[in-house]
Amino acid sequence: MKSNVLQPDHTCPWWLLPAFDNPLRKLVHDPLKILRQFVRPGETALDVGCGMGYFSLGLAQLVGDTGKVIAADVQPRMLAGLRQRAERAALVERINPQLCQPDGIGVSEPVDFALAFWMVHEVHQRRAFLQEIYGLVKPGGKFLIVEPLLHVSGADFERTIALGQEIGFRAAGRPRVALSRTILFGK
Ligand SMILES: C[S@@+](CC[C@H](N)C(=O)[O-])C[C@H]1O[C@@H](n2cnc3c(N)ncnc32)[C@H](O)[C@@H]1O
Repeated sequence: MKSNVLQPDHTCPWWLLPAFDNPLRKLVHDPLKILRQFVRPGETALDVGCGMGYFSLGLAQLVGDTGKVIAADVQPRMLAGLRQRAERAALVERINPQLCQPDGIGVSEPVDFALAFWMVHEVHQRRAFLQEIYGLVKPGGKFLIVEPLLHVSGADFERTIALGQEIGFRAAGRPRVALSRTILFGK
């Protein structure tokens, strides 16, 4: 069945984000509770498919004023929303917005931690995408993929895990995140 919510290319439309990217979401997805076990002060974190920065702001708190967050998205409207929120939260100095192209993230800086929250199912070239992240994560670094439970089947998610492992990632855990399927990759 065709979705009238996703755009024809299956990218989440910018106007949908405020519907689930609001203070109530914290009751289900508290960014600090989910991410604090993975991120240390001073580190560089990548939030790919950041949308309007719901998790980028949490990451910015966790890396502190000596760390950095690269917040990457393919939609300029998402990055505009992220900038506004980062300014309001006085975290703009720690967040570098990055406009991706559909065929590449366009980041060259190595990262300690990468997050792809509810976005991998929107990526067309999944192997190339995972390979690009693999190239960015430092040895010893981590990559957390979180996918929506109802939208992504178990079989599809297992294919993503297998692809990640083929590329060289090591499965390092399955952290619990509400309404989601997860894999923590290590490098
Ligand atoms: C459902 S939203 C999730 C946003 C955010 N991670 C969150 O949980 O609030 C998915 C986001 O991934 C972005 N996206 C989709 N494909 C992408 C790609 N190939 N590269 C970068 N961002 C992408 C979309 O523009 C959208 O902002």
